[in-house]
Amino acid sequence: MIRSALQTIAPDSAPSEAVSPDEHIAPAPRVSVQAFCETVETAAAIQAAGEDRRLGKAHLKVQMGGVTAATEAYRSAPTPNVIVLEAEGRAENILSGLDTLAETCDAGTRVIVVGRTNDVILYRELIRRGVSDYLIAPVGALDMVRSICGLFSAPDAKPVGRIVAVVGAKGGVGASTIAHNIAWAMARDLALDSVVTDLDLAFGTAGLDYNQDPPQGIADAVFSPDRIDNAFVDRLLSKCSDHLSLLAAPATLERAYDFSAEAFDGIFDALRATMPCIVLDVPHQWNGWTQRALVNADDILIVAAPDLANLRNAKNLFDFLRSARVNDHRPYYCLNQVGVPKRPEIKPADFAKALDEQPTAVIAFEPQLFGTAANNGQMIAELSASHRTAETFRLLSQLLTGRSDVKKSKGGLLTPLLAKLIKRQK
Ligand SMILES: Nc1ncnc2c1ncn2[C@@H]1O[C@H](COP(=O)(O)OP(=O)(O)O)[C@@H](O)[C@H]1O
Ligand SMILES: [Mg+2]
Repeated sequence: MIRSALQTIAPDSAPSEAVSPDEHIAPAPRVSVQAFCETVETAAAIQAAGEDRRLGKAHLKVQMGGVTAATEAYRSAPTPNVIVLEAEGRAENILSGLDTLAETCDAGTRVIVVGRTNDVILYRELIRRGVSDYLIAPVGALDMVRSICGLFSAPDAKPVGRIVAVVGAKGGVGASTIAHNIAWAMARDLALDSVVTDLDLAFGTAGLDYNQDPPQGIADAVFSPDRIDNAFVDRLLSKCSDHLSLLAAPATLERAYDFSAEAFDGIFDALRATMPCIVLDVPHQWNGWTQRALVNADDILIVAAPDLANLRNAKNLFDFLRSARVNDHRPYYCLNQVGVPKRPEIKPADFAKALDEQPTAVIAFEPQLFGTAANNGQMIAELSASHRTAETFRLLSQLLTGRSDVKKSKGGLLTPLLAKLIKRQK
């Protein structure tokens, strides 16, 4: 029974616009953006871009009327940080419109033009006039997000890491265990520098699971926001293996761990600047900062056990995160601790129906294996590299890092499906 449930199935489809696993669009700062459109399609795309999490801090206003309306508007009003102009007409008209606008434009305002003409001469003329970007209509919301955010991210801040947030639909469902095993596989099997950030400050088990007892970790960072820079965060990491580091939780109770929603932003940014893979072990809590950690992650894995409360919570998490992240890949979810003897369980198919998405993995309840691993401070693959659960963690690590070299693994049924999924995601 369990064996047949142990297959990993590809979710239906990713939103066509979702960012590819290799791309990270850094969120825009608190800038003002005003758009002057000529078509409702472009206006709708820009409006939708404004709903994207990466433009959450920006102030966006969309109106119609193109270059003419913009020129009119800024005759008396100061210009914003960014003006987006849709210019439907011919190249000469676009350029002369821009020249008129330039007379009223404050220095420092950046201009993005959306046009229909795919013409290199026009493009050169626009660049010569200081236009920051030229997009060819029709544009999607994500094109606009990419373009606006691109204005504010330094070109050399390129090799940023991806954040994968792992959270349980209930406490005790194995979210931390899975997060630690996946990060270990990223480091060991994919040779990617990875860091596990244990966000369960009071009770986190990452230190125990990796058999580490570092003197410092995440608490030093979150309680000294002024000191955070790449070098400081680097010093707080403890090395678990060649490619794996840990930002450990103190797991002590002297302090209370109440944080503002933005408390971890600086740490995550610093990690992103230096680490290719960041796995967040997010505790099963719902407050400003856990919500924010999930919403702003590049990918999310929800772990659920097969019972009704997990089903309800997973669905709520799934729906919340999907609507907060319309231009991102949907969260993945996996079922864990499946097949506890004599326990009535909700089937993967019922989860799939309720969530309108297949589970990415179904992991069996194996108390002997997981219990030994937890008590020894070892990973599943260290106890039994060929165990099917170790293989599942390897495949999940590939999926969550967008690696497509799944061929090398001997995943049987899992392999082709995951390969397909990864391809589709690109
Ligand atoms: N598939 C599994 N089979 C048996 N035990 C498991 C399995 N997954 C996790 N566990 C055990 O469940 C307990 C809770 O896991 P943990 O990762 O701390 O959960 P969470 O982070 O969701 O609270 C741990 O003792 C862990 O070893
Ligand atoms: Mg946990």
